[in-house]
Amino acid sequence: MRDSLVLGIETSCDETSAAVLRGERELLSHIIASQDVHAVYGGVVPEIAARQQLRDLSPVVRAALVAGGLELRDVGAIAVTAGPGLIGSLLVGVNWAKGAAYALGLPLVAVHHMEAHLFAPNLESPDAEPPFVGLLVSGGHTLLVFAAAWRAYRVLGQTRDDAAGEAFDKVGRLLGLPYPGGPQIERLAREGDPRRHAFPVPMVRGDQRAFDPDFYDFSFSGLKTAVLLRVRALEAEGRLAEELPHLCASFQAAAIESLVVKTVRAVEETGASRVVLGGGVARNQALVDALRERLGAGVEIFVPSPRLATDNAAMVARAGAFHWHRGDVAGLDLNPDPNLPFPGLA
Ligand code: KG4
Ligand code: ZN
Repeated sequence: MRDSLVLGIETSCDETSAAVLRGERELLSHIIASQDVHAVYGGVVPEIAARQQLRDLSPVVRAALVAGGLELRDVGAIAVTAGPGLIGSLLVGVNWAKGAAYALGLPLVAVHHMEAHLFAPNLESPDAEPPFVGLLVSGGHTLLVFAAAWRAYRVLGQTRDDAAGEAFDKVGRLLGLPYPGGPQIERLAREGDPRRHAFPVPMVRGDQRAFDPDFYDFSFSGLKTAVLLRVRALEAEGRLAEELPHLCASFQAAAIESLVVKTVRAVEETGASRVVLGGGVARNQALVDALRERLGAGVEIFVPSPRLATDNAAMVARAGAFHWHRGDVAGLDLNPDPNLPFPGLA
């Protein structure tokens, strides 16, 4: 049994998570401890995140082992997120994993956080396999990637300023909504008219067919400023409250359009027939519906369930199992890298 069990650990941002995976897809346990404290500050405070992870990680691992009816010595390997992420948070997970691997003589597997997101849908659907186009959208990242094979990725585009989820959160804040803004905006947008306010669709120029090496990049700060200016004008007219649902719907439509246009183009260019989503913004049903409609029936879209879409250790265990079975293990001198480059083609 031991040979097939991987303990996954994730502490790259503000979650503290541990999971035990048997084989490729059988999750024996999966614990995620989230930190509500950051809501007060309107965003993740790195020092607070790391301090709570230091406190929470051992109990979270213990809870994952107990839930699986296991002890630490029963697992065959320990997989841990080594980057990218917040350095203090990464250090907590990597140091814990190194200590446990050393004490028990277990192989240590270093996992790239974004690659783990790409593996997440595979836990639920064996067909979520390369080649595919991956769209990873969360509070910390916005990445469009082509996976030719596992471990062979081409990063097509990323954000030049705010991450997609960050844009939802910042717009939420300037609309006076609680943090995180994404779910609130989606909820209010259902009651609003997406055409009421003409916001610019970021990084989408008139002729999408023209060759532009930057086409796949994202930018959300201009859209955020456009919303801010509209909010100020409506405030001056005393009409902000009545326009709130329309502002949410119009902002959401513009943000989603930018994600959809680039994803559709990536699918056309790479010839992929699968799209894999990840990150908290993948919970947005309007985004998923728009992708379904524009990609058509010939392209299968894999949307992880909410627990697997956001940061979690199950996806780390899944990616770790892949690397471990290929003999790709790390030394005990492993150090986390907050800017770890994406593994693969370029
Ligand atoms: O993956 P995640 O839980 O944490 C990291 O950022 O790593 O993603 C959180 C982000 C937040 O920015 C949140 O506003 C956004 O995902 N989000 C959404 C929705 N649910 C969560 N954005 C748009 N629509 C949603 N339904
Ligand atoms: Zn993430």
